[in-house]
Amino acid sequence: MGPMMNPNYPPRVHLAHLPTPLERMDRLSRHLNGPQILIKRDDQTGLATGGNKTRKLEFLLAEAQKQGCDHLVTVGSPQSNHCRQTAAAAARSGLGCSLVLKGADPGQYTGNLLLDRLLGAHLYWTEDRPVADVVAEVINELQAMGRTPYNIPLGGSNVVGVAGYVLAMQELREQLAAQKQNIDFIVFATSSGGTQAGIVLGAIVYDLPVRILGISVDHPAAMIKTNVSALATATATHLGLGTLTISDRVEVNDDYVGEGYAMVSDAEREAIRMVAGWEGIVLDPVYTGRAMAGLIDLIRWGAFTRGQTVLFWHTGGTAALPAFADKLL
Ligand SMILES: Cc1ncc(COP(=O)(O)O)c(C=O)c1O
Repeated sequence: MGPMMNPNYPPRVHLAHLPTPLERMDRLSRHLNGPQILIKRDDQTGLATGGNKTRKLEFLLAEAQKQGCDHLVTVGSPQSNHCRQTAAAAARSGLGCSLVLKGADPGQYTGNLLLDRLLGAHLYWTEDRPVADVVAEVINELQAMGRTPYNIPLGGSNVVGVAGYVLAMQELREQLAAQKQNIDFIVFATSSGGTQAGIVLGAIVYDLPVRILGISVDHPAAMIKTNVSALATATATHLGLGTLTISDRVEVNDDYVGEGYAMVSDAEREAIRMVAGWEGIVLDPVYTGRAMAGLIDLIRWGAFTRGQTVLFWHTGGTAALPAFADKLL
């Protein structure tokens, strides 16, 4: 391995239970008769059921506090895991929180939406208006009331949030060394691209020669690749690492998008039941279930050899499960 770079991390608040466990999935691996599968349990980051946004929020919260902000504003779908973790981070830090959610008020509150309300977030529905217009309106209202809002983009995916997953790769490197374990691939769900940007940049910074494969849950692969490369490049600059060659490390597979975002099919149902049944680990239907369905399909197609090791990064999302009960049983 080559010399490691030294990122200049900005301030960070502690929200996550770290390190998250790195475990073997021996029973699932034997059942699929393919590569050894490991799982990185970022569903266990601890912030109101956890998930990948908690690592990003550690840096975003610190930046908000540095700027003297007293209120977080962010956006997402009605079952957004990012919004729920943002609401929890705000509550725990004594900040207010406003969530701009896409669509109309469903009138019924379950899954993440139930947690958003219990966590005290203010909810705004876009109906059929552009998200950016509603966000601008909410920010104006807050300022008119004398508050100082901090605006977090979709998925917490900007250079501040991405640092959370660069740092996660240092954590992974230490765990792999302690467990004397090599990995060949990292596979996970990708959408707004912040997680993938951090993992890719972290692999470069901490010299982990591993292939990084994002399974798109919604967008075309070319679009995600462009976003991830741009985000990782900008984050490298933000962390004082200079200009790095990143795009050749960014792999995205969009073969498993199916009918589109959050449209649950047999593939997700099979993946969720398989991981629950063989490992006692719960996935979600929108992100991790879809990514695991992709991994299972790639294994069946012989994309990996039996001697290889694949790390599946569990990014959370299980808080959404009750909202999908009728699609899963
Ligand atoms: C459970 C889960 N997995 C994966 C993702 C995708 O992460 P990113 O938006 O950083 O690509 C998200 C967020 O959208 C998520 O909530």
